[in-house]
Amino acid sequence: MTPSLFPPALFAWYDRMRRPLPWRAPPGAPADPYHVLLSEIMLQQTTVGTVIPYFARFLERFPTLDALAAADETEVLALWSGLGYYARARNLWRAAREIAARGLFPRRTEELRALPGFGPYTAAAVAAIAFAEPIVPVDGNVRRVIARLHALDLAGPALDRRVRGIAEAAAAEPLFRARPGDGVQALFDLGAALCTPRAPLCLTCPLAPGCQARAQGLAEALPRPKPKLERPERFGLHFLVRDAEGRVLLRRRPASGLLGGLWELPGAPWRERAYRAEDAAHHAPLKARWRVLGEVRHGFTHFRLSLLILGAELSAFPRLGVSEDKEKTGEESALVPHAPESLARLPLSSVMRKCLALGGRLAQESGPAHRAAG
Ligand code: ADE
Repeated sequence: MTPSLFPPALFAWYDRMRRPLPWRAPPGAPADPYHVLLSEIMLQQTTVGTVIPYFARFLERFPTLDALAAADETEVLALWSGLGYYARARNLWRAAREIAARGLFPRRTEELRALPGFGPYTAAAVAAIAFAEPIVPVDGNVRRVIARLHALDLAGPALDRRVRGIAEAAAAEPLFRARPGDGVQALFDLGAALCTPRAPLCLTCPLAPGCQARAQGLAEALPRPKPKLERPERFGLHFLVRDAEGRVLLRRRPASGLLGGLWELPGAPWRERAYRAEDAAHHAPLKARWRVLGEVRHGFTHFRLSLLILGAELSAFPRLGVSEDKEKTGEESALVPHAPESLARLPLSSVMRKCLALGGRLAQESGPAHRAAG
């Protein structure tokens, strides 16, 4: 017999155990579509625990969709700083503008799909949670619950196809059709609290009676992991230069592409070969006695990054507003001095915040100095 994804026990469990997350409406009340939209975009690739404080700060600054739509993109990016995957922030802002311009929040999955940054998962999640459309969005939690419930001993695209088919069929179950938003969020909570990747707590799981993986002793083994791809390593060289007032020189990355539009320390292009301190002569944005401040490592989805950070203090910056060598800055903006107190409000990536944290070492003597030709 096909096991049910939405038996009465699941809703009973959710009614008792639901997490009081800030974007959730009280039991029985309709959810605020803006809150659902904001939380779902934030939760793409980020955990609930990380999202909660960002969600609160966003709502405080932009209490309504119209407030977000009227905001300056730079401010939205700055509030997003540290959440990663900045294209999400830009898409969120664009989606808010589109919805505000229409004057009507799209309610159906197909309409939501047309918004910037809305893939099948996000469109289905917002449609189900905010507008009670009976559709099952498949995220990592839902995928794991379904793979176990049906003991799907598959991996990769074959697993994904089966999971999608089962999710579509389950959307027709009567209890789900009566409470789509709760049904979806019950699966999220189940995946987070009981049907966890390791050591699932099957004894108290409301789906345990129908769970085929549990019956076959496979609950912990499924879903089978995707074979891990080794992420390549890239290297960069960046320069942290301060003047007597503590201002730091930054440039803005090109609007599109990885970390698009965010500010960064000037530096050499990221490449597959490591840089050495001696390379400062070729790549530094200006003449200075460069010192090694340290190395910063950061993991992106598709590569690992290792940055060598050189630092210098100058009594004053030379002629600014224009970088000294156009070729070296490529598509990036000219160098702009930023006061320390303005850094908190600036859209900066996590990796650049790590680099700036090395600024404390500027005052100390650290290793041999390297002269740069500028
Ligand atoms: N993950 C994605 N959306 C979620 C939600 N609404 N509640 C909990 N976890 C989630």
